[in-house]
Amino acid sequence: MSPHNRRILVTGGAGYIGSNTTLQLLDAGYDVVVADNLSRGHREAVDPQRLHVIDIHDTEGMARLMMEKPCDAVIHFAAYIAVGESMKVPEIYFENNTCGSLSLLTAMRKANVKNIVFSSTAAVYGMPARVPIPETEPFAPVNAYGESKVMVEKLLHWFDLIHGVRSMRLRYFNASGADPNGRAGEDHEPETHLIPLLFRAIQTGEPVKLFGDDYPTPDGTCIRDYIHVTDLARAHIVAVEKLLAGGDSDVFNVGTGHGFSVKEVLNAVEAVTGRKVPHVIGPRREGDPPLLVADSTKLQERLGWRPEFSSIETIVETAWNWANRTRR
Ligand code: UFG
Repeated sequence: MSPHNRRILVTGGAGYIGSNTTLQLLDAGYDVVVADNLSRGHREAVDPQRLHVIDIHDTEGMARLMMEKPCDAVIHFAAYIAVGESMKVPEIYFENNTCGSLSLLTAMRKANVKNIVFSSTAAVYGMPARVPIPETEPFAPVNAYGESKVMVEKLLHWFDLIHGVRSMRLRYFNASGADPNGRAGEDHEPETHLIPLLFRAIQTGEPVKLFGDDYPTPDGTCIRDYIHVTDLARAHIVAVEKLLAGGDSDVFNVGTGHGFSVKEVLNAVEAVTGRKVPHVIGPRREGDPPLLVADSTKLQERLGWRPEFSSIETIVETAWNWANRTRR
C-alpha cells in the first residue's frame, strides 16, 4: 500500500520521539498533522505549517481537527514522561496521560477515526520476573507514570471491543540517540535521562551522579535496553502500516534485546567524545529495577522490524552531535 494520500495525526509531535517519528513519516511520503500544546514540546521541532497548538483534553477541538483534516490514523505520543515527577504529583500524570488519552479516543469516535498507535512503556511491567521481558508479562507498575499508561492500554482494549477502534500499543524501553541527519533529538527540561546527563557533566564539569553500584549486575550498575530513536520511530511506521492494511489490535515491546550497564554507557560516552565524564557514585534511585531488557522477537517476527541504529556507539554519537548542535 502506498503511503501517498494517507494522512496521520501525530499528538505530541513537538516532543522527542514524536518529532523524530514525524520526520520519518514525511520521509516515507505520508501527510502529517501535528497536535501539540507545547507544554513540554518545542515549537521549532515541527514544520509550522503542520503544527496545531491544541490540547488533547479539548475533545471538540480535536474532533474538529480530525474532520477538517481527515486522517487515517492517530499516533499518540502526547504525555508526561518523568517517573520521579509522577511519584510527587501523580494527579498530573493521570490527568494528562490517562484522561487526555480518553479525550483523544472520544474525539476519534466523533470523527470516525479507527486506528491508533499508542506510546506505552516498559514501566507497565514494574520489576518483571522474566528478563528479557516478553509482552505476556503481567502489568505490575511501580510508579504512577507506568500506571497512567496501563490505564490507557485498558481503555484501548474496550474501545476496540465496543467501538472497533484498532490499536497498536508499543512499549518502549530506553529511547536514546538523535536523528542521524541532525534534524531532531532529545531536549527535556529538566533532563533526567542518563545519556544527556553524561554529556552535561562533560560540558559543565559538574559530576553526574551514578545511582548505585551495588546492584546484582556484573559491574554493580543497572542495565537497560537502549533503543535508538530512529529505530523506535520506524516501529511506529510498521505498526501504523499494519493497522492501515487491516491488522488487528496488538502489543509490542520495542527494544534491542541487549542491555548496557550505566558504567558501560559512561565508557561509550568517553570513547565517542574523547572526553572524561566527571562522575560520582551516589545512592540507588528509588524504583530502579536492576535489569530491564526487552524481548522484541514479536515485533521482529510479525512486523519485520529490525533495529539498525541501536549500537551504543551510534546512539551516543548521534546524541552527542545533537547536544552540540543545540548549544550553538
Ligand atoms: N541514571 C544514573 N544517573 C542519572 C540518571 C540515570 O545513574 O543521573 C541511571 C538510572 O539509575 C538507570 C539508568 O541510568 O539505571 C537509565 O536511567 P534513565 O533515567 O535514563 O531511564 P530509566 O531506565 O529510568 O527510564 C526509562 C524511561 C522512562 C520509562 C522507563 C521504563 O525514561 O520513561 O525507562 O522502565 F518509564
